[in-house]
Amino acid sequence: MEFSLQTEHLTKLFDGDLPAVRDVTLRVQPGEILTILGPSGGGKTTTLRLIAGFERPTGGSIKIGDSVVADANHFVPPEKRKVGMVFQDYALFPHINVEENIAFGIRDQKREGEKQVKRMLDLVGMEADANRMPHELSGGQQQRVALARALAPNPDILLLDEPFSNLDTGLRAQVRNDVRDILLETETTAIFVTHDQQEALSLSDEIAVIFDGRLVQVATPHLIYNRPVNSQVAHFIGEANFLPGEAFGLTASSSLGAVKLFHPKSGPVQLMIRPEAIFVGHQEIGNRASIVWREFYGHYQRLGLELDDGSELIARTGVDRFFQRGDNVWISLQMPALAFDQSGDSTAS
Ligand SMILES: Nc1ncnc2c1ncn2[C@@H]1O[C@H](COP(=O)(O)OP(=O)(O)OP(=O)(O)O)[C@@H](O)[C@H]1O
Ligand SMILES: [Mg+2]
Repeated sequence: MEFSLQTEHLTKLFDGDLPAVRDVTLRVQPGEILTILGPSGGGKTTTLRLIAGFERPTGGSIKIGDSVVADANHFVPPEKRKVGMVFQDYALFPHINVEENIAFGIRDQKREGEKQVKRMLDLVGMEADANRMPHELSGGQQQRVALARALAPNPDILLLDEPFSNLDTGLRAQVRNDVRDILLETETTAIFVTHDQQEALSLSDEIAVIFDGRLVQVATPHLIYNRPVNSQVAHFIGEANFLPGEAFGLTASSSLGAVKLFHPKSGPVQLMIRPEAIFVGHQEIGNRASIVWREFYGHYQRLGLELDDGSELIARTGVDRFFQRGDNVWISLQMPALAFDQSGDSTAS
């Protein structure tokens, strides 16, 4: 069974401090994976702890499925919430083996419990390691056991707080894919917290960006990346070029000449141009530029470009064309630019 999660105006104020979470209204659809992304100290962990019931909200409400679990008049304690949580440091119980760790949260420890433990071991591919102790496992294996333990009691909602941060890059990608498959297979609604933008973009159905406890944008990875609502979000997610311009509706004049815009704007703007939106070629199309540096990454290359007026841009292209420092090239935009006005806002005006 899939459960939705909903917070309304969720707020948490720790004694004598600025609010850690401010007025967060968030909906997670049943079976969806939502990722919370934002700078350190922004309130991500606090949001998860409020949902799990480890903290009491100062204001607002939390609803899981049709049940209110926290508001001004109700507070359902964590053990009654059916919310699983996986922490960054795994937190396996060190003195009991894998099987016992997974069985820990299951209420019916008898026959159904045994079956469930087997199902979970199978799900995370740890059948052969059921009797091993946590210290005998690799980081990735411990992570999978932690996930199995959190999933074993069939939680309505699973919360994962930077669960992959102790894994190296290769293992991280593998465990991440395993976890996504497991969440889809068990139809579990999940909220992830990560610092890793690539992870957020590749794993999530939706991304919620939080700055200073405030929700700034909730949207699909595609929209967060291509239509960030303000320059703060644009700077935070992915690499972006910013070029000054003057907007006239759906066009702006700039160092690149007339540039098409996604949304109409007027007056002075900053044009956001993602590096892969810039086409770089040797044919005389668009604007003249010279290559001031080049970085080769195997499957793509990053190019530092300088326009005739001295403006600098970064482009990212495939490796089918060869470029080197000092080359004179021609560049053009392959898609409209997003324009941010002086208040930093990118929505239509
Ligand atoms: N128990 C607490 N008592 C007082 N202040 C707290 C407590 N827990 C968190 N805070 C404060 O709330 C704010 C948000 O913290 P939180 O741990 O939610 O951030 P975060 O987004 O998870 O950061 P990180 O990315 O570093 O994990 C911080 O300013 C932090 O100092
Ligand atoms: Mg945190």
